[in-house]
Amino acid sequence: KDHEPLKVMISGAPASGKGTQCELIVKHHNLVHVSAGDLLRAEVSAGTENGIRAKEYMTKGQLVPDEIVVNMVKERLRKPDAQKNGWLLDGYPRSKSQADAIEAAGLRPDVFILLEVPDNVLIERVVGRRLDPVTGKIYHLKFSPPETKEISERLTQRFDDTEEQAKLRLRTHSQNVDAVLESYIDVLKRIDGNRPKEEVFQDINSLLVALLPDEVEASIGS
Ligand code: AP5
Repeated sequence: KDHEPLKVMISGAPASGKGTQCELIVKHHNLVHVSAGDLLRAEVSAGTENGIRAKEYMTKGQLVPDEIVVNMVKERLRKPDAQKNGWLLDGYPRSKSQADAIEAAGLRPDVFILLEVPDNVLIERVVGRRLDPVTGKIYHLKFSPPETKEISERLTQRFDDTEEQAKLRLRTHSQNVDAVLESYIDVLKRIDGNRPKEEVFQDINSLLVALLPDEVEASIGS
């Protein structure tokens, strides 16, 4: 049945599990996952002018300037697939000005999910994180180890995933989070992210299912 596509924002400190939860959300809800960090890393890998500039900020754990990030995200959300299937925006907005920019473009979420995880846990998650360049899947050496030896041998690490850099990212996050939350206080849902990823997902899924019309809700279940 036709229904208004869901529009979801997910936010939280570095390594709070945004990307991990997005993998699970997409599997169940078929939303278009738009990750500001992934879009930026794609520019960095491609060696574009924006990518070269962005990397300077990313290695220092600072916010990349709005003139690079804002249009990149807006353009992605306006593409037909995101308009048709709904979107799941991860890692944006990260400042009041980014929130204002997206609001001015008429892009407002049905729900704003905030993953809450204590700082000491975050650092351990960053340091053990690995990525599969073939599938894009996120792993953790201790908490979510690769399924096979073949995968384990091809895993890579992000250029900004040292303990030092994670601490800088965490500081940037703490400085900006309150201003962003203010813009979404009416749709804000706080989720305890310091639990196994399946448990975290169950809570998120219940929130999303409750936003669907009754007939769709019945077909997906909670
Ligand atoms: P971005 O890529 O968004 O990085 P981040 O916010 O630091 O978040 P992460 O990707 O590190 O973590 P995550 O929450 O996705 O956690 P994950 O699921 O991987 O941004 C990078 C940089 O780009 C920024 O510093 C900035 O410079 C720039 N940037 C991005 N957006 C911007 C914007 N809007 N404006 C300006 N600049 C911007 O999980 C982490 C690890 O923990 C994994 O190993 C995972 O397996 C494990 N894990 C996940 N969940 C659990 C669980 N429940 N239990 C145990 N382990 C778990």
